[in-house]
Amino acid sequence: MNEKQRKEANEIKEYSADVKSESNNNLNRLKNMESDELIGKYFQSTYQPPNLKKAKKRLKKDVDIHYDFSIPEEMKEIGKDKKFLIRTYGCQMNEHDTEVMAGLLTDMGYQITEDTKEADVVLLNTCAIRENAENKVFGEIGHLKPLKLENPDMIIGVCGCMSQEESVVNRILQKHPFIDMIFGTHNIHRLPSLLKEAMFSKAMVVEVWSKEGDIIENLPKVRKGNIKAWVNIMYGCDKFCTYCIVPYTRGKERSRLPEDIIQEVRHLAAQGYQEVTLLGQNVNAYGKDLEFDYGLGDLMDEIRKIDIPRVRFTTSHPRDFDDRLIEVLAQGGNLVDHIHLPVQSGSSEVLRIMARRYTRESYLELVRKIREVMPNATLTTDIIVGFPNETDEQFEETMTLMREVGFESAYTFIYSPREGTPAARWEDNIPMEVKKERLQRLNKLVNEQSKQAMEKYEGTIVNVLVEGESKKDPEVLSGYTERNKLVNFRAPKSFIGKIVPVKITNAKTWSLDGELVEETSEVL
Ligand code: 5AD
Ligand code: SF4
Repeated sequence: MNEKQRKEANEIKEYSADVKSESNNNLNRLKNMESDELIGKYFQSTYQPPNLKKAKKRLKKDVDIHYDFSIPEEMKEIGKDKKFLIRTYGCQMNEHDTEVMAGLLTDMGYQITEDTKEADVVLLNTCAIRENAENKVFGEIGHLKPLKLENPDMIIGVCGCMSQEESVVNRILQKHPFIDMIFGTHNIHRLPSLLKEAMFSKAMVVEVWSKEGDIIENLPKVRKGNIKAWVNIMYGCDKFCTYCIVPYTRGKERSRLPEDIIQEVRHLAAQGYQEVTLLGQNVNAYGKDLEFDYGLGDLMDEIRKIDIPRVRFTTSHPRDFDDRLIEVLAQGGNLVDHIHLPVQSGSSEVLRIMARRYTRESYLELVRKIREVMPNATLTTDIIVGFPNETDEQFEETMTLMREVGFESAYTFIYSPREGTPAARWEDNIPMEVKKERLQRLNKLVNEQSKQAMEKYEGTIVNVLVEGESKKDPEVLSGYTERNKLVNFRAPKSFIGKIVPVKITNAKTWSLDGELVEETSEVL
């Protein structure tokens, strides 16, 4: 081990020790600091950048749940005859936050538009997970400048995960002063008041809370479509994988109460939704922060009794995926047998420095347990290549794990250092060509495995939840099977929103072609 490696190893050791030690002293110190962490409009003087040590010393039970949300009286009509547009980057959590912001703006009288030129309010709901996600947003900010110059009354806001980063806020303050407001992920419910401030203030309105907020129930939502719906079950993440910015941008784990979630799902079922996806950054940690003994398995056990055809959940963390959940999922019914189970790497050593808290072997054991009771379950995953120090051999372990598990698809990423995370302090010592080459090889394997999985469907009949016209041909409808396979087939438009049997005639790498089963006089 050379000097540099020794230093890095020590850092990892320190980091792991740190995760474990949350002494009372530190908690008390944090308690006293909390009020300072509320970043007000005069952001620069009080702003605290994402701080690993501080973030890890979070308090458990200081989250309140509010049921009394309402739009301030004076803001209820402010959007009359005006339009809004929200551009969303990143994950489903962001997509769902956009639905909430669309709900707030609609309740203020605004109407939705797809055209930036006619928008009175433009919001960029941003993602910070990788550098290229951030670059896209800065590109879009650049495009908005001429529009703002043409229409100075237009309000442009930047929100979402990037707003939680000090460097991003500074860059916007310095280089893009035409932006009217910046707000974070913990204060979405403050949008009406922030908008009002932005309209009447000459300065940029910046309100980013470093400390995570309370849980605000009963926020209005305008959902995208009336077939599938997202339901938040928890917010934040306490896992602190060493590469990941999410625990800083989304704050600590906070679970919604089971009764609030169940009520929302029941309501969606009554409205005719065919599918819900339960959302959280690490859904398997659901309930850990509640004051009673209740987990994701218990929640799924309740939700499976609700009359809604399909229930999914994302994203899982292998470490917290417990036997109770497996036992409940095995009962099937509306709980679909597709599990997205991010593995990140096939090497136990890489997993250790990623602080994933499981090994290749324990991941495989979890897969074995799942397959034992759900033999036909589809497994998909997320993988990062080119993590600092990842050797060729370690990368090969990812390739063999990919085959061994038989993942039917995978989201694959080149490691991207994120400021403020432990891994960003280590040397990013894998050359870009090597990372790209690894990614290419991995993607080739992912495509092969996807194609093989698709081919097994040829000649079989699958149930497809029809979502709408296919992107390429309006004469063709498309939708997804329970195991999340995209199916294209010809059928009357009246089938949109229904679950119908389709016979698969042709398998492609990422989709299936089929024919509506003829005797479908009545749809399922
Ligand atoms: N670099 C590359 N990929 C990342 N992910 C999270 N953080 C990073 C990063 N810094 C990937 C992980 C995660 C998915 C949502 O994004 O695979 O599961
Ligand atoms: Fe990020 Fe997921 Fe790890 Fe949480 S569990 S730190 S969201 S990769």
